[in-house]
Amino acid sequence: MERALQWIVVVAVCASSTIIHAADEAPHRKLASVDYSDVISIDCGLKEGYIDTTRIPYEDDDNEFGEIHSISDNSFQNQPQINKQLMSLRSFPEGKRNCYSLKPRQGKNKRYIVRGYFAYGNYDNKSKPPTFDLYIDVTNFTFIRFTVANTTRRVEAIYFTLTDTIDLCLVNTEQGVPFISLLELWPLGTASVYQDLLNFQTLDLLTRVTLGVSSADDQLLRYMDDNYGRSWLARALTRNEKEMKTTLGIDLDTVNNPYKLPTEVLNSAVSALRLSDSVNIWRNYNDTSFEYKVYLHFFDFEERVDSSEKRIMNVIINGFGEGVDDNVTRKISLSYNQLLTLPLTVKVGMGINNIFIKATPDSHLPPMLNAYEIYRVIPQSVSATHQDDVDAIKRIKDVYKISRINWQGDPCKPTNFTWDGLICNAMNPPRIISLNLSSSKLSGGIDISFSNLANLEILDLSNNQLVGEVPEFFAKLSQLKILNLSRNSLTGSIPDALIAKSESNSLQLSLDGNIGICQIGSCKKKKNIVALVATIIASIVVSIIIVGIVMAIRRSLRKNGGISSTSKKEQLKLKNQTFSYSELHNITNGFKQ
Ligand SMILES: *[C@@H]1O[C@H](CO)[C@@H](O)[C@H](O)[C@H]1NC(C)=O
Ligand SMILES: *[C@@H]1O[C@H](CO)[C@@H](O)[C@H](O)[C@H]1NC(C)=O
Ligand SMILES: *[C@@H]1O[C@H](CO)[C@@H](O)[C@H](O)[C@H]1NC(C)=O
Ligand SMILES: *[C@@H]1O[C@H](CO)[C@@H](O)[C@H](O)[C@H]1NC(C)=O
Ligand SMILES: *[C@@H]1O[C@H](CO)[C@@H](O)[C@H](O)[C@H]1NC(C)=O
Ligand SMILES: *[C@@H]1O[C@H](CO)[C@@H](O)[C@H](O)[C@H]1NC(C)=O
Ligand SMILES: *[C@@H]1O[C@H](CO)[C@@H](O)[C@H](O)[C@H]1NC(C)=O
Ligand SMILES: *[C@@H]1O[C@H](CO)[C@@H](O)[C@H](O)[C@H]1NC(C)=O
Repeated sequence: MERALQWIVVVAVCASSTIIHAADEAPHRKLASVDYSDVISIDCGLKEGYIDTTRIPYEDDDNEFGEIHSISDNSFQNQPQINKQLMSLRSFPEGKRNCYSLKPRQGKNKRYIVRGYFAYGNYDNKSKPPTFDLYIDVTNFTFIRFTVANTTRRVEAIYFTLTDTIDLCLVNTEQGVPFISLLELWPLGTASVYQDLLNFQTLDLLTRVTLGVSSADDQLLRYMDDNYGRSWLARALTRNEKEMKTTLGIDLDTVNNPYKLPTEVLNSAVSALRLSDSVNIWRNYNDTSFEYKVYLHFFDFEERVDSSEKRIMNVIINGFGEGVDDNVTRKISLSYNQLLTLPLTVKVGMGINNIFIKATPDSHLPPMLNAYEIYRVIPQSVSATHQDDVDAIKRIKDVYKISRINWQGDPCKPTNFTWDGLICNAMNPPRIISLNLSSSKLSGGIDISFSNLANLEILDLSNNQLVGEVPEFFAKLSQLKILNLSRNSLTGSIPDALIAKSESNSLQLSLDGNIGICQIGSCKKKKNIVALVATIIASIVVSIIIVGIVMAIRRSLRKNGGISSTSKKEQLKLKNQTFSYSELHNITNGFKQ
């Protein structure tokens, strides 16, 4: 009996585990094309990473600056899927610019979605949400302001990066303490989406709406099979609209779907009630100094009685606004099961007031729309620091563990945020021309990366704990005019090339206060002393040899009857056998030379 019970338990456990497994598999199969390994997600303010129920892995937040806070009041009802992520945040009471530096695996010259969420939640009990600027690298991207304290701000950029890292920076504008709740980076891969733009443009998401999901009005929804992690705002029906839904399974692998729209976005839409009605989007993007991008997503899943029936529509932007004399008009035609994204550009000077989608007189079906996105185009005006200099200074920061709140983001730009101790020139891209790390508690040897700051004119490393020798590479920095290495613990001699530059006055070299180092001149003297000592010793040795040889000669002469009686002939013979005195003299002189 007991044994039977055990078996039942075992079977039950196995069964339940297979059920869990199967349940696990189902969404996994659907998500097969979503590769989270390239996604960077940081749940700001959390010390430990985790994997979310949506299977997105969240990294721990290891930012070296700022403070961690959590929110007690869970009031973000319109973002059900990221409530957990919004419950913690990192705020930055110190420093003018604080950054998260993201390093995507795909690297530079690629397009990414950079996304941030900001949920104030009265974490500081001040009931006063801050206003601050947000930069992506050196571009002033947007500002964060809360009209209502308990709303969440989502910021999303489609960004083309020219560098290996992307910095998202929060800039304090003296209107409260900047903070961030959630940060994500999604690669757009090689897909040619959102692509009808120049590389130096950045798109700022204004709105992204999915239609015909009225059960979830005003919620931001992220679907599991959205390859780019996009959240879609579910919008209520307006007058003259009706919901369109399909229960037919859409096979995402067979539909040509360049924008990788998730199934849920594709299988719901709105259509006008009557053939003569239009689907309307009313907006008030009235800052006409920006260009705008509009993406309209259509998937016509309405089955036709007659397969030749077409849905033909005119898309008109600003066509009927009062006093608006510029507009965008496009005619599109959809057949059954056709997926189409219509990208539209709204030029500078126009703004967006309304978008109307109307059936043409020859259309068999009323107008429809599944989803839309509207972006503002941000011109990238300032250029970032030269990559060589960025790499070098970041390595110097790492090697010497320099922790300065101001050493974040781009080293030179924007000019107001240039790192302490740096002076950059006005070239495009800017170069670092002066680096002052005097009294910065640097220890260890002088790192090779200093030699990569090719335009350096001034380098002050004085008053640190640097050890080792003065490297020769300083002589190769052709612009270097001042090199202050005084008051360190450097040892050894100064490279000749540096001495030469210093003596020709092209380099002001300072090495005072390095006890172990041979100062200019003194090392040379030392070298001379060594040479002198060597010469003296050599001379003594040679003299001893000479004396020995001379004595040996004398002895042999004495054997032959004395030196006085030696005939000239015998002297000649002797010369052949052994050295003459003058020859010995020449040899000793040779030693001296
Ligand atoms: C924000 O608070 C107001 C009242 O203070 C409430 O009516 C509203 O529903 C809240 N909004 C959200 C998104 O929680
Ligand atoms: C805000 O108030 C709550 C409860 O009143 C308290 O637990 C929390 O520590 C306070 N937070 C701050 C930042 O003062
Ligand atoms: C950055 O851009 C915002 C608008 O997005 C603007 O309000 C702010 O003044 C700009 N900041 C600077 C320093 O130009
Ligand atoms: C733009 O719209 C805002 C309201 O959203 C309004 O306050 C502002 O006056 C408008 N500006 C122009 C130039 O119409
Ligand atoms: C604006 O749109 C209307 C309606 O489609 C069209 O007749 C008109 O020519 C357009 N105006 C311009 C300036 O493009
Ligand atoms: C730079 O700083 C000055 C003075 O603090 C300020 O007036 C100016 O707006 C700042 N510019 C930028 C781009 O932040
Ligand atoms: C470097 O900074 C220190 C102050 O921290 C200053 O005394 C020194 O003159 C600076 N060096 C150069 C070369 O400007
Ligand atoms: C080098 O630095 C030291 C200490 O910071 C300073 O006293 C000295 O004047 C500097 N030398 C030069 C040539 O700037």
